[in-house]
Amino acid sequence: MTARTVVTGTGHYVPPRVVTNRDLEKLMDTSDEWIRERSGILERHHVEAGIGTSDLAVEAARRAIADAGIDPATIDFIVAATLSPDHYFPGIGVLVQAKLGLGTIGALDVRNQCSGFIYALSAADQYIRAGTYKRILLVAAEVQSTNLDFSDKGRDMSVLFGDGAGAVILEPNTNGDGRGILSTHLFADGNFASHLWMEKPSPMDSPTFQTGFFEEGRFFPKMEGRNVFVNACQRMPEAVRAGLEANGLRVEDIDALIPHQANDRISLMVAKGLKIPGEKVIRNIDRIGNTTAASIPIALDEAVKAGRIRTGHLVVLTAFGSGYTWASALIRW
Ligand code: UT7
Repeated sequence: MTARTVVTGTGHYVPPRVVTNRDLEKLMDTSDEWIRERSGILERHHVEAGIGTSDLAVEAARRAIADAGIDPATIDFIVAATLSPDHYFPGIGVLVQAKLGLGTIGALDVRNQCSGFIYALSAADQYIRAGTYKRILLVAAEVQSTNLDFSDKGRDMSVLFGDGAGAVILEPNTNGDGRGILSTHLFADGNFASHLWMEKPSPMDSPTFQTGFFEEGRFFPKMEGRNVFVNACQRMPEAVRAGLEANGLRVEDIDALIPHQANDRISLMVAKGLKIPGEKVIRNIDRIGNTTAASIPIALDEAVKAGRIRTGHLVVLTAFGSGYTWASALIRW
């Protein structure tokens, strides 16, 4: 029988420093009330100087490894998703591999921003089902706080984003109980690349790093918030429906929906669009903020540990973000 890919361990890590909306009020013209009403966020976590995305990834990975109860030496591949690698190159996959002492196993870096975890899950799922690898560490991590514009000019972005990491261990399940990843559906529309991006640095500029770009704030991420909002509310339900249809399942079959934690209003609109009851929707953006690729695995780990996701449940993940990219994954837990 064909193997399905099953999640055998989950873990997450957020840096200890909590930044509240009140803390942000001291930096820019914003208010706790505005941030709560428009995004549902009360606080987020920011790293201390010197801590990189790979450091958060390693902590989350260690927790997922412990949760799976495995010897790290048996991991045979790494997939790492982030938009905020420690360095322009190489990606964080190799740094995670070295920091965990995982020998010379391969490390794939995935660059699909908010959809990064689901894109990475899809890639890992193909490797496992093909029999190429038997135990994959998939980690998604972000440090965004060190490159946000905390002046009034950047307030639409900087209040939303936080730092954190989530990880899962993936293995084949051949025992015929139906557990595992049922499908992944990936979508993209590059016509909207500039609607949510970090324009600079760009190797198209010679030299790439120019003082003028810094002065103009072009090294900060930028977003057409309204357009992102509208598309996110439309595309995530579409991706979920594509997954349900491919598996002959209905919205009523879903036990837990984990939307990318972009904005709580978006999560609620996605739930409304799918007509799925609120209690089935996993939401933690109030405490964690938007952690881009890391948001789904962080929410997943919390939900599993809280007993909201149990064996046999139909778990649906969906994401939308920069690219634009959007995606869904259906997992029989
Ligand atoms: O991770 C995936 C990518 N990101 C997302 O999915 C986020 C998608 N977009 C959003 O979540 C929302 O568009 C935002 C939360 C970013 C903004 O909410 P909005 O309801 O769309 O507000 P808006 O951009 O239309 O701005 C309304 C007002 C503006 O003032 P004026 O022009 O009406 O005077 C903004 O300047 O709110 C102002 N504003 C703020 N005020 C206080 C924008 N940011 C802030 C702020 N504090 N932090």
